Amino acid sequence: MDLEQRSIGVDSLLPHYERYFGHRPAIIATAPGRVNLIGEHTDYNNGFVLPMALEMINAVSVAPSPTGKHRWVGSLGDSIIELRPEEASQPGDPFWSNYVRGVICMLERRGVKVPPVDMLVDSNVPRGGGLSSSAAFEVSVCTALTALCGADVPPTECALIGQQTEHEFVHVPCGIMDQFISANGKKGHALMLDCKDLSYRYIPMTDPNVSVLIIDSAVKHSLADGGYAARRKNCEDACSVLGVESLREATLGMLEANKTKLGDLCYRRARHVVGENLRVANFAKALEGGDWEAAGIAMRGSHASLRDDFEVSCAEVDTLVGLSYTIPSAESVYGARMTGGGFGGCIVALVKSNSVEQVAREMLEGYREALGIETTYIVTRPGQGAHLLFQE
Ligand code: GLA
Repeated sequence: MDLEQRSIGVDSLLPHYERYFGHRPAIIATAPGRVNLIGEHTDYNNGFVLPMALEMINAVSVAPSPTGKHRWVGSLGDSIIELRPEEASQPGDPFWSNYVRGVICMLERRGVKVPPVDMLVDSNVPRGGGLSSSAAFEVSVCTALTALCGADVPPTECALIGQQTEHEFVHVPCGIMDQFISANGKKGHALMLDCKDLSYRYIPMTDPNVSVLIIDSAVKHSLADGGYAARRKNCEDACSVLGVESLREATLGMLEANKTKLGDLCYRRARHVVGENLRVANFAKALEGGDWEAAGIAMRGSHASLRDDFEVSCAEVDTLVGLSYTIPSAESVYGARMTGGGFGGCIVALVKSNSVEQVAREMLEGYREALGIETTYIVTRPGQGAHLLFQE
């Protein structure tokens, strides 16, 4: 995976689309990937998350198809796949088409009938890196198709459609965070979401002295592999023992009082979730007050908890986070942690802007020395959520 990506814009998409289909698109919609700053594995526990949208996007160009069939291109350079109208809302092959099929199905459930479309998908969100390329895909498809149909589907509904697509067509039992931030992200802001009632607030992230650094561990992750579903199950089991509806309702005191009944595994899983919700609150407060030291402490606590209690990190990611303490420029790093579902993927760090490139170089060098792995990084700002790039 390469974090240093080519740019995507209307100027390049229009000619590509015309080359495939011989006519112009009616709509081009984009939705971004995301990086989660803090609040990991809390979303499906009705807890709090604090992600930001990336500047890396998935772009979907569409127009009604003159052929009466759906014609889709999954990424630049691929060949066209053709589907009959009735097939387009059923699961099927190739695998990537399920992201589109799912969205069409969920729109139909809401009474939006999608006509056969010519669709070109292009993306510069790296796949399998824990930066939510799938959410960007679903949300951009939904944004494009609803604009094409003139349907009024608000961003949060689009996010839910994306999540249902994951559940039913991709078989990943994800929470709502990724789709929510992809749909609702705001340039220059992080977003704090309460996953219990989907209320949220934007937090400005415009301090020029602090940069968001993302480094790839070069370990691919897949949430369909079972580790993610197993963690969800551990959390549900903990809820049954505690007699609560979700771990949102649990407190550290309740966990201590029920430690034996919970058993070591569920106790630690629950301790991560309960502690992580508190860290999100601390992080939000720190961000709003410009207290980057405190924000960094929350991030470091989050990583340790994900590594030791929730056990979703891996040796490579731990090595990267460890380097943020030991590189020569370590004092320029406020905090670093794994980001996303885990089992590989990226780390995110908050770093003093005047030394962020130096920090990145030292981290990459340290990683190569420690594990012999070459990797990439990006320095990024909060990007804009789903929107239309072009409308004929
Ligand atoms: C993945 C899921 C999210 C969330 C994170 C962990 O990204 O898609 O819903 O659960 O893992 O915080």
